[in-house]
Amino acid sequence: MPRPKSLFQCQSCGYSSLKWLGKCPDCNAWNSFTEEQHVSKLKGQKTARPVALSEISASTGGRHSTGIGELDRTLGGGVVKGSVVLIGGDPGIGKSTIILQSVRGLAKLGKVLYVSGEESPEQVKMRAERLQITSGEIILLPETSLEGIISVAREINPQVIVIDSIQTIFSLEISSAPGSVGQIRECATKLMFLAKKRGIPLFIIGHVTKEGAIAGPKVLEHVVDTVLYFEGDKGNPFRILRAVKNRFGPTNEIGVFEMMESGLKEVDNPSQLFLSERPTNVPGSVVTVSLEGTRPLLVEIQALVSPSSLGVPRRTALGVDYNRVNLLVAVLDKRIGMRLSGMDIYVNVVGGLSIGEPAIDMGIAGAIASSFKNQAIDTGIFTFGEVGLSGELRAVGQAGTRIGEAVKLGFKKGIVPANNLNKFEEKDIEITGVKNVEEAVEMLLF
Ligand SMILES: Nc1ncnc2c1ncn2[C@@H]1O[C@H](COP(=O)(O)OP(=O)(O)O)[C@@H](O)[C@H]1O
Ligand SMILES: [Mg+2]
Repeated sequence: MPRPKSLFQCQSCGYSSLKWLGKCPDCNAWNSFTEEQHVSKLKGQKTARPVALSEISASTGGRHSTGIGELDRTLGGGVVKGSVVLIGGDPGIGKSTIILQSVRGLAKLGKVLYVSGEESPEQVKMRAERLQITSGEIILLPETSLEGIISVAREINPQVIVIDSIQTIFSLEISSAPGSVGQIRECATKLMFLAKKRGIPLFIIGHVTKEGAIAGPKVLEHVVDTVLYFEGDKGNPFRILRAVKNRFGPTNEIGVFEMMESGLKEVDNPSQLFLSERPTNVPGSVVTVSLEGTRPLLVEIQALVSPSSLGVPRRTALGVDYNRVNLLVAVLDKRIGMRLSGMDIYVNVVGGLSIGEPAIDMGIAGAIASSFKNQAIDTGIFTFGEVGLSGELRAVGQAGTRIGEAVKLGFKKGIVPANNLNKFEEKDIEITGVKNVEEAVEMLLF
């Protein structure tokens, strides 16, 4: 049977088709198809031998510290040998910086091959000087051809490989341009085989497209073991590194950093940081506790409710799910009788954090209620709980951990779901269990 010689691939999701298409049927992107050469991967491949599970010995001691506690935490307790880690984020957010800083710890493993396809060795050197990194174990390779990188890696036998960035690397075996789906997949896969075979960690830096996907897209996320993603906005020095996928640790684990002249500095007490600029006696501000991975984080949620001058009122959600905000507005309207339908509503999580957990529902609802009634909530109170459609407050996981964090920061009173009451033991705090949003709002705005 004759094989197709070329395929058309969507550059935003990797969908392939034999014909050129104007619109991708998978991700609905327009004009995203380009021609890529089809390479048969099966030639000369060895088949694996089946092994009994009991015969396999897995060593647990294979983790290595990067020398940066917050990075180790997001990786699930250090980097695993033979693992492939993708670090994604907007340009200028600090991807090259964190890798260069972690090289200080990684150099203890041996030689670190730093492949720089974007910057000249002089530029990397300038950054290293600014970050005060002087290790002689770092070997810079200004190379963009995959074959060149692999041959250098074979020659010098590094113990860690860093690719900065995957979008600049291309394989001579594929005719499409660097940065295209085919190139990125081919290069990432070949590099992954190299890392697995040698049992060394491989860090891949990847840029993010306007739409927020790691360019050369989902295909790359499937190839790697761990995906770390930098969040944070340019105007704000805080950077959050989040594990979006991790085969060796919990997902959603975060590390918090502050960007300084001398590089990324770890933030030891993020809860304190997120609450540091909290206004007192201002309506529309509530403290809630979110669990990011294994770490509880106290965050301030702000809401502003004001009568709308538009036919369709404006709703804005920053850092929380837009649909979730709409749902909570509907619950407050229907169950407590707050007339929110003609109101513009803005909700924001302070500090540039994004939270997807339903446990912060009560925080959002409380902030909206506080702003609507123009009544400030006491600064010593926090609340959490998932809100159901009938207005009930549902229990959330790890209530004890959350309350413990609030106690540490000196909170005096907590309004939590009634079903969470028996799950913790804390002394220095007054905890009230409530059954529904109405009771919770009453307690917050007593
Ligand atoms: N003196 C400095 N020179 C250059 N960048 C600096 C300096 N001080 C702090 N920075 C920060 O470093 C960032 C660049 O980080 P970098 O790791 O190169 O980003 P990425 O690799 O993600 O594109 C800049 O956005 C800036 O915030
Ligand atoms: Mg960079």
